Amino acid sequence: MNVDVVLGLQWGDEGKGKIVDYLARQYPVIARFQGGPNAGHSLHFEDTSFVLHSVPSGIFRKGTVNIIGNGVVIDPVTFEEECRSLEALGIPVRDRLMISKRAHLILPTHRIIDAASEHSKGVSRIGSTLKGISPAYMDKTGRNGIRVGDILVPGFQERYKALKSKHIEFLKQFDYAYDPGQGEANWLKAVDYMGQFTLIDAEYYVNDCLNENKRILAEGAQGTLLDIDFGFYPYVTSSSTTCAGACIGLGFPPSRVGKVYGIFKAYCTRVGSGPFPTELFNREGEILREQGKEFGATTGRSRRTGWLDLVALKYAVILNGVTDLIMMKADVLDVFETVKIATSYMIDGAGTDRVPYDTNAVITPVLREFKGWKRDLSGVRREEELPFEFMTYVRFIEDAVGIPIKIISLGPDREQTIIRD
Ligand code: IMO
Ligand code: MG
Repeated sequence: MNVDVVLGLQWGDEGKGKIVDYLARQYPVIARFQGGPNAGHSLHFEDTSFVLHSVPSGIFRKGTVNIIGNGVVIDPVTFEEECRSLEALGIPVRDRLMISKRAHLILPTHRIIDAASEHSKGVSRIGSTLKGISPAYMDKTGRNGIRVGDILVPGFQERYKALKSKHIEFLKQFDYAYDPGQGEANWLKAVDYMGQFTLIDAEYYVNDCLNENKRILAEGAQGTLLDIDFGFYPYVTSSSTTCAGACIGLGFPPSRVGKVYGIFKAYCTRVGSGPFPTELFNREGEILREQGKEFGATTGRSRRTGWLDLVALKYAVILNGVTDLIMMKADVLDVFETVKIATSYMIDGAGTDRVPYDTNAVITPVLREFKGWKRDLSGVRREEELPFEFMTYVRFIEDAVGIPIKIISLGPDREQTIIRD
């Protein structure tokens, strides 16, 4: 058996939560492989909506095992809040969730360093979610980090205090006022809470599942254009968001990658700073934001919006080896007279269909126009009912990328999903 991977092909917020929840019924095991509480995966069903930050999006499905993999960084406080709200909804989180001992912890001082570092960057700040992601991964690769498994080892408190002291030293370089005890009591309480969960050697668990022919779905966070290596650096997150990151973040070999579901929105959004070639600053951009309710699920920030960028999408498809495309929020485009797609970039007077090394260069997108369908698609449940103009848009993308769009999502609900064979 293989691991199928679901990941975002843009700058995050593609709708991964909905799709993982939707696909989860086919998989007994759902596993998050990178990122942390910077993620905000929204799920809607019946009259409920829920935003998950650290817990995999399979948690609502009875009979699933959900795993937080070694590639994830966890803030015990956010984790506890999230699990308690799930428990309040009657979800038996402790029975359905296991955590890799190798996942790293986000300390209160990681969050302070994140804030101090962003503050010091002024206008060139990354627009981080300020959840302590980058400092936690810095400690991981710098070999200073504290892992989930350390909770069970005597001397945990001492290790915590030693790392906190290092952080206080590090913070001296910034002109930034903070309270070193901020959040500490809560954090230590939340660590105890986490210790009540099943902490596992997830790499063995995952490989045992594969050998027992259990299907695993790996759930990515963020998106390919935020990847630490291949994103629009330095305006990226601090983990490997691409398919290869699933192997590293869970401990299964590349030969076991099965399907790669690449999720993209029918247009583009971005939160935080950094280049965004197709960004709109006009009424069209506002309409996308209003129709798409483009406000951050984690930070509440309003998202930047723009047309679909095929140059970036093709780049993401190559990097991930996408086998199945999934198009989200296509209904948001319903109101437009004309819908546009960027097919190439103009940089310094030359055309290219490749993402350049220097994404901070002035990039002018070359746009192709499509006649809008001007029909409310949110109630459509069958492909045959989709308008001709809409299918022209879909087929153009499929032809350009060379990968079929297997799922079209026309709204947040589980039911608003069209599967194409
Ligand atoms: P999901 O999983 C959208 C962005 C931040 C910032 C940059 C770095 O919901 O798609 P970080 O806090 O990681 O240091 O921030 O990455 N970012 C996201 N944008 N969706 C996300 O997650 C994101 N996680 C981080 O806005 O620009
Ligand atoms: Mg998000």
